[in-house]
Amino acid sequence: MTEDVRGLIRRLDGGDRLTAEEFLRLLETPDEESDALLRERAVAKRKAIYGNAVFVRGLIEISSYCKNDCLYCGIRRSNGHADRYRLSEEQILACAEEGYSLGFRTFVLQGGEDGYFTDERLVPLLRELKRRHPDCAVTLSLGERGRESFQRLYDAGADRYLLRHETATKAHYETLHPPEMSFERRMECLRQLREIGYAVGAGFMVGSPGQTAEHLAKDLAFIQEFQPEMCGIGPFIPHKDTIFAHEPPGSAELTCRLLSVIRLIKPNILLPATTALGTVHPQGREMGILAGANVVMPNLSPTDVRKKYALYDNKICIGEESAQCKDCLNARMKSIGYEVVVSRGDPADAN
Ligand code: 5AD
Ligand code: FES
Repeated sequence: MTEDVRGLIRRLDGGDRLTAEEFLRLLETPDEESDALLRERAVAKRKAIYGNAVFVRGLIEISSYCKNDCLYCGIRRSNGHADRYRLSEEQILACAEEGYSLGFRTFVLQGGEDGYFTDERLVPLLRELKRRHPDCAVTLSLGERGRESFQRLYDAGADRYLLRHETATKAHYETLHPPEMSFERRMECLRQLREIGYAVGAGFMVGSPGQTAEHLAKDLAFIQEFQPEMCGIGPFIPHKDTIFAHEPPGSAELTCRLLSVIRLIKPNILLPATTALGTVHPQGREMGILAGANVVMPNLSPTDVRKKYALYDNKICIGEESAQCKDCLNARMKSIGYEVVVSRGDPADAN
């Protein structure tokens, strides 16, 4: 590790902001020694706020229909081989019910941008979910919607919204998305969600096609500037029916290095060790927690639809029942000295 990199890590750890150029220097020459130092500082920061708690969010994948056509994604609308499904309101409530009895107190409703899930359908669903489980937090991850819609869903009880920015570099964004999608629109959605009062999650893929260290440095500068309550990052993984089928996947090691840096940028951030990280490496989620992540998201979707929610190939957890997924993650966390906690784990709990 160079003295320059050591100095940058020390400054980040001390609460300094770094410029995109400085983040770039931090990323350009990864080595085991600086990885270890980043990990150690990130874990110390997280421990001071959260102890050895890992928060758990029950993921319910409500629809694999999507009107978007993101080039990297297995459920993009132009993938004619994708097996489509959507859960009924009753099925979604039943998944939450099961999750509740397993101890979950946060539900994440995630899906493609499916025209079926209008505000008219989502508002009563959210109200009912909150009526049945007033002590639970509800997170939405349903892509871009209008400001009015974000507001209605918030008023109906949604607490948090995950919308990865995907990449903070406009030119790179445009190579990953079709022309009708816009970088500015994406960023505008994030600002609107924040203004409305949601706890907001941004995030990006690591190793997406065409991504450079400069792009990642800008992603970090964006996270530092926007200060999202949550940040979802995971390796890019190719999907066989996309034009990126033969691109290499992102690495678990680089993902973990970025998790550590993000923990130092915002010590109280909620940072998941993602399913994608667990897919590229058998111990990926454990590695993520040991690098500074503090959230895991076991799958609560009905087992018969899981393989259809295929954003990328070889996704893990598609055969397991919800209870098995929960037990599996509990055991994995315990094996590395962490404890899965069932509280809502609100971002505000942080200080
Ligand atoms: N590999 C990894 N992550 C992906 N996502 C979509 N497609 C892929 C892929 N092929 C991520 C995107 C999206 C989130 C729901 O899943 O970042 O925001
Ligand atoms: Fe789903 Fe291990 S977390 S099976």
